[in-house]
Amino acid sequence: MKIWLDGGLQDIESARVSVFDHGLTVGDGIFETVKAVDGRPFALTRHLDRLTRSARGLGLPDPDLDEVRRACAAVLEANPMPLGRLRITYTGGHGPLGSDRGDQGPTLVVAVGETARRPDSTAVITVPWTRNERSALAGLKTTSYAENVVALARAHAHGASEALFGNTAGRLCEGTGSNVFVVLDGEIHTPPLASGCLAGVTRALAVEWTGARETDLPLDVLERADEIFLTSTLRDVQAVHRVDGRELPGVPGPVTAKAMRVFEERSGDDLDP
Ligand SMILES: Cc1ncc(COP(=O)(O)O)c(C=O)c1O
Repeated sequence: MKIWLDGGLQDIESARVSVFDHGLTVGDGIFETVKAVDGRPFALTRHLDRLTRSARGLGLPDPDLDEVRRACAAVLEANPMPLGRLRITYTGGHGPLGSDRGDQGPTLVVAVGETARRPDSTAVITVPWTRNERSALAGLKTTSYAENVVALARAHAHGASEALFGNTAGRLCEGTGSNVFVVLDGEIHTPPLASGCLAGVTRALAVEWTGARETDLPLDVLERADEIFLTSTLRDVQAVHRVDGRELPGVPGPVTAKAMRVFEERSGDDLDP
């Protein structure tokens, strides 16, 4: 297995980053997860745009996107697999032990791991913790993901694959690694970016391709929505068959089934939409 580090491919067994890397010591880093089908990345341009936005949000230097593209291509070529999770990680680099950033420049790692196609439907839970829509990190894809680790572990303990958060105002926000959509009276809605959710690449494509509306929704809309689905890089569009104790019968419902179909067709037509 090969990864990209320090400007070239390295063996995963011997590749090393500093134990003082600011990404490790304080979570000062950003990342992207990109789906790779038969060695080809999906929607890479959108992911790289977001990588730059996240870097700017953290005050990191803009990543060298030519290098990141070269790294992705090299890692995919060196590690052939049918369905891959391509992971780009970019951190503050070697630094002091506190929150001040060092001056030795960022660390870039690109790695890939094999993954399986997700099931067509899944169970979710809501969690009592909130997304802070006014956080300095709102909307940035940072490596400070420990809140997601805790929430996802709780979801797994309840037989679910995702945990959904409300924000500090009690409005529906997002999952630990996905965006959420609800169907009300035949119309598709998803929380606006002002809810504090990540601007998901899959969310944006789903909005574009299904005509879903961005609507400020209360968290308890999940108790009455006719249909619910998740979007993310590795879930694409995935129906929800249970939310907390509530079973949603006949999943995927007609609107979700159509969204799944449209997403599959459109994403098959264009690898970099
Ligand atoms: C917090 C969060 N929300 C939403 C998403 C979905 O974004 P995307 O569709 O770009 O994968 C992710 C990404 O995995 C995420 O980490």
